[in-house]
Amino acid sequence: MGNFFPRWTNWLPLKIAIALVFVVVGVAMGVTYYFTPKYTRVGYMPTQPVPFSHKVHAGQLGLDCRFCHTFGERSSHSNVPNNQTCANCHGEGKGQIKIASPKLQPVRDAAKPDGKPIQWVKVHKLPDYAYFNHSAHLNRGLSCVNCHGRVDQMDVVYQHESQSMGWCLDCHREPEKNLRPLTETTNLAYTPASLSRESFYKDLLGKAKADEIAEVIKPGAKAAGLPELVKLAEEKFGKEVTQAEVGPQLKKHWQIAPPENCTACHR
Ligand code: HEC
Ligand code: HEC
Ligand code: HEC
Ligand code: HEC
Ligand code: HEC
Repeated sequence: MGNFFPRWTNWLPLKIAIALVFVVVGVAMGVTYYFTPKYTRVGYMPTQPVPFSHKVHAGQLGLDCRFCHTFGERSSHSNVPNNQTCANCHGEGKGQIKIASPKLQPVRDAAKPDGKPIQWVKVHKLPDYAYFNHSAHLNRGLSCVNCHGRVDQMDVVYQHESQSMGWCLDCHREPEKNLRPLTETTNLAYTPASLSRESFYKDLLGKAKADEIAEVIKPGAKAAGLPELVKLAEEKFGKEVTQAEVGPQLKKHWQIAPPENCTACHR
């Protein structure tokens, strides 16, 4: 028997092993570096040119988020309100609220004929290679609070979530943990317990048959109509409506299927 392999090949397994260790460590580090800038941007709170408070305007005054944030289409520039929106209340001869306040000087300056718009500092920013559309989320049972926290309680807005790819995908895999009726999109204080079970199932009956709804409450169960569904749900979930009851129903009967393929978000 001749020796087919030269002597140095005895070291080959070791060399491969060492090279593999480098590759594994390298990949692990790369992955950590690229995919988990997770909590680094959480809490980012830039100083704004006007000390505008969401706690006052959205919380205490109760202005709806969409009074100022419209999300008509995806636009490259920031979707914050223009000066006219502020001037309706703070402008001279109009709302006259706090008309002399020094804090509102930039609002008054912007209202002058040659005035420049207020330069708000952007808080949230995805990289350009990631595609995101607000309407596609807001029309499908999510609320601002899922992605921005209790903005209505913030004097100064800050970034509440990491907005990393892992964060997007966590919800895309289990959207039922966050889905709610469309009437509650901008109700940041909403809890499922505030829902009336009757109206929830009544609305759902516009989308699906009673048996299909019953099947989600309890596999194998049947129901002839609304009273039976309510009774079945009460037996299963108790007196209060919970997310475990609402989420799976909306996911099934609104056919919610958030994409997980790369090209959905990287176009
Ligand atoms: C009266 C108008 C007004 C209302 C009502 C309002 N906002 Fe804002 N919002 C602004 C302005 C002005 C800014 C930019 C300045 C700042 O960041 O505070 C802003 C900024 C934001 C930002 C940060 C945007 C960025 O740069 O990334 C978020 C998130 C936000 N608003 C969410 C909400 C939510 C949620 C509600 C409803 C609870 C709401 N807003 C209601 C005027 C408003
Ligand atoms: C629907 C009416 C309304 C709109 C629209 C509105 N505000 Fe106000 N704003 C108020 C009220 C009411 C107060 C509280 C006044 C008080 O404390 O007595 C206030 C307070 C403020 C203050 C604090 C002033 C101070 O001296 O304490 C600032 C700054 C301000 N608003 C900025 C803005 C900006 C910027 C916009 C536009 C993005 C805006 N507001 C839109 C009604 C409005
Ligand atoms: C599914 C998550 C999600 C929901 C729900 C959501 N946002 Fe956002 N929001 C984001 C992300 C991500 C960005 C950053 C977008 C970018 O940079 O392209 C953002 C950016 C913003 C901005 C900055 C301006 C802009 O368009 O880039 C404002 C203002 C804002 N959101 C307000 C709201 C309000 C008000 C609601 C509820 C009516 C809401 N968002 C619901 C994820 C969400
Ligand atoms: C809290 C849950 C949640 C978070 C967080 C979330 N999504 Fe979604 N996403 C959804 C739901 C629900 C849909 C709607 C699926 C449907 O219509 O069937 C959706 C749909 C989409 C779609 C397809 C619709 C479209 O616009 O083309 C894209 C793309 C998308 N999301 C991107 C993102 C990105 C990027 C992020 C992170 C910055 C993100 N999403 C964060 C729940 C979420
Ligand atoms: C639900 C939306 C979504 C899907 C699906 C998605 N991504 Fe991402 N991806 C993002 C967002 C948002 C970022 C930016 C994260 C950040 O800024 O921290 C990102 C970042 C990345 C980065 C990091 C780039 C860098 O250098 O920062 C890579 C690489 C990437 N994605 C590849 C992929 C691949 C490959 C797939 C398919 C297996 C995929 N993505 C699927 C939303 C998504």
